[in-house]
Amino acid sequence: MGYDVYKIRSQFPMLNVPHFMQGKPLVYLDNASTTFKPQCVIDAMNDYYTKWNANSHRGDYDLLYHMDQLVLEARKTVSKFLNCEPREVVFTSGTTMSINLLANGLKHILKPNDEILLSEAEHASNVLPWFNIAKQTGANIKFIPLNNNGEVTPDNLKSTITNKTKIVALAHVSNVLGSENDIKSLTPIVHEYGAIFCVDGAQSVPHLKTDFKDLDIDFLSFSGHKLCGPTGTGCLIGKYDLLNELDPFIVGGGDNINFDIDSSLELLPAPEKFEAGTLNLAGIIGLKQAIEFIMSIGIDNIHNHDKELIEYAISRLSSYDKIIIYNANNRNGILTFNIKDVFAQDEATLLNSKGIAVRSGQHCAKLLYHQICTKATVRLSTYLYTTKEEIDAFVDAIINGGDILDAYFSN
Ligand code: ALA
Repeated sequence: MGYDVYKIRSQFPMLNVPHFMQGKPLVYLDNASTTFKPQCVIDAMNDYYTKWNANSHRGDYDLLYHMDQLVLEARKTVSKFLNCEPREVVFTSGTTMSINLLANGLKHILKPNDEILLSEAEHASNVLPWFNIAKQTGANIKFIPLNNNGEVTPDNLKSTITNKTKIVALAHVSNVLGSENDIKSLTPIVHEYGAIFCVDGAQSVPHLKTDFKDLDIDFLSFSGHKLCGPTGTGCLIGKYDLLNELDPFIVGGGDNINFDIDSSLELLPAPEKFEAGTLNLAGIIGLKQAIEFIMSIGIDNIHNHDKELIEYAISRLSSYDKIIIYNANNRNGILTFNIKDVFAQDEATLLNSKGIAVRSGQHCAKLLYHQICTKATVRLSTYLYTTKEEIDAFVDAIINGGDILDAYFSN
């Protein structure tokens, strides 16, 4: 049985209800921002509130014990999906929290003039936490040059990394260009210099097969809401020994063995030492279900589907001279463009008036304009339920023109 996008779509309530403004389902092409949720994820979260509602790790009754088992099962599901160990999975509220936890946890390895290497393609969540700890420790931030496709190449990494480099933090896939760093070719270089390799998987984990052990990276962050899971969920994955060495970002109930009036504190080992406070249990159950859903469809099938749609969109748009595509070589479900002489936000507003949702602006990657020489773009992003008909609706809306005034006077 081939990839049945319509069968997949039938499982997403948001794709089958009239949009509250348009009166018909939305053409949703902003999946790099967040994704819709299938009924099974909604049901799993609902089940938590209606059948299993209890805390975890804090009592000795069956209901709570059942929750403990579900959290453990969720860790196992993540570990199976990414090929890591269950104890290497820390539940967080998403990529931003994962990278903040990581950056703060690594502060103790930095001293003045040490280096943290980033690229100008990074999302704010993989820049600002590192800026913060650089300020606090006196370390320096350096940027690895990008090639014309917006990628970090092994040669460019080699030309930037030094013996002072302690941390290299890069996205696997850019949220603006969809460009993909060949992480496996970069890892040995990072490790040759004794540095720690932290990969932002927010845009890759939902779309690309990600094998933590095979990539041999030290840390990986991702969000649940970009892979059909609940908002407020995500994980930090870390090689166990390194993970255990991180200082916790937050402390409180559930992360410790003991503390006393002399301010002594004995923390639990990872992952629990990073999970102080009541966990987002409904979210974790929803995340587990979302990952099972993605695995049942197959991440390679999803990747191929994204690729076909982007190739189709590019093939339709590239015959129009007025359309500037910034990432014609990428196939990771992201197309970033402008229309000559049209401000990106105006174009997105016009598309909105036609029931098409895209993102415009800087997409939180405010350093990338050095590379693409423009401050604002329009971004279309696909996912497993996007159809060719939706791409056609988008291209037709673009090429049939109209201007910003249509957006205000069309209804
Ligand atoms: N990181 C999300 C995006 O790129 C919000 O749109």
